[in-house]
Amino acid sequence: MRHRASYGTHDLLPEDSFKWQYLEERVRKIISFYNYKEIRTPIFEETDLFSRSIGEDTDIVQKEMYTFLDQGKRSLTLRPEGTAGVVRAYLEHSLGERFPLVKLFYFGLMFRQERPQKGRLREFNQFGVEAIGSLEPSLDAEMIELAVKTCLDLGITDFKLHVNSIGCPKCRPIHRDKFLGFMKDKVGELCEDCKTRYLRNPLRMFDCKKEECIDKLKDAPVMVDFLCEECKKHYELVKGFLNKLKIDYFEDKRLVRGLDYYTKTAFELKSKLLGTQDTLCGGGRYDLLVEELGGKSTPAIGFAAGIERYILALKMEKKLNLEEKSLDLFIAALGDEAKAFAMKLMKDLRAKNLICETDYLSRSLKAQMREADRQKAKKVLIVGKDEIKKGRAILKDMESGEQVEIELEKIRDSV
Ligand code: HAM
Repeated sequence: MRHRASYGTHDLLPEDSFKWQYLEERVRKIISFYNYKEIRTPIFEETDLFSRSIGEDTDIVQKEMYTFLDQGKRSLTLRPEGTAGVVRAYLEHSLGERFPLVKLFYFGLMFRQERPQKGRLREFNQFGVEAIGSLEPSLDAEMIELAVKTCLDLGITDFKLHVNSIGCPKCRPIHRDKFLGFMKDKVGELCEDCKTRYLRNPLRMFDCKKEECIDKLKDAPVMVDFLCEECKKHYELVKGFLNKLKIDYFEDKRLVRGLDYYTKTAFELKSKLLGTQDTLCGGGRYDLLVEELGGKSTPAIGFAAGIERYILALKMEKKLNLEEKSLDLFIAALGDEAKAFAMKLMKDLRAKNLICETDYLSRSLKAQMREADRQKAKKVLIVGKDEIKKGRAILKDMESGEQVEIELEKIRDSV
């Protein structure tokens, strides 16, 4: 029996991997202009880190984590997201004591046992950005601007920025009471998931995609109408900065996030081209998380983006018509002497950053020329025993078809 990749996972093949490399390189460059530095944290962490950070009552912790016991019977979990591990590392290495504001970014695999569909996988890639140590609304605006910039720079234009404020522990209970009161008579008519959410995590109802629930929630009280003075002022300032930066946004009063650590600013970039899994990236403030994980009270903000979704959006917008770098030189070498010459020549040319290839399948000259053509080689050098003896060989320009005889001694300057 042949094995297949596990349900919800995928292989990235060479025909696509260079597109991912392009995306990663560009994103890294953009992020570096904002002065964020890379952090790499482990792919698994203690389970408790995620339950405490993301929240016991979230879908992620309730049903989506890949949790296992290791040989020492410790409960470990494949990371479903990056923020918890970053904050754990921030505390473990006392980064806050060394730098007043810690600006970090990461790329990495995340794991969530969700029902796979377009844009939703069980093993997926994110890049994320976290700034730990400041409560200033200008930082929220920079973070949002950076998220927008990553899309625009790559060529994704069909997206909308949604922003909201989801308050803090001071103002949230007041809204929660009002919200629960409003929904009380309607609970019986909600879907099974929302019935559970009503008891455990009521705000998540706003994320329900079922018609019956959307309808019942139409006039439900929203958090932004209950913000305390501090949260209200913060939100107004963030919006003011966004206006200054000329960033279009939609004040989405129903925007809630799937993780419990958020406070104040929450935002998402959504694209209709993606279908139901329409969020390209999402994030917000998490001013209480550092303290929750044992540090001193430290405000923070961040976002993460799904790389598969960025790629999907780029494909939908037909912006991923990249050509892979082609061969600078293919050496059609016939016989052992020519092969030895080819090996040495390739070693020298690769040292000059040229992409070279030869034949390793003892093919005929005709087959080697076909291979050079298939690999879109810019030039082909044809060498056999006679050419080595003469010290001269044919160099063919594959685009123009022009052939010139050149001295093998001088080939290094002709490619
Ligand atoms: P999140 O909204 O759970 O936030 O995920 C961020 C992004 O990861 C989503 O917008 C989506 O593009 C992608 N994503 C999530 N789940 C999947 C999946 N199953 N398959 C494919 N892509 C997926 C977080 O993870 C937070 N840690 C973001 C953050 C950082 N907040 C503050 N700092």
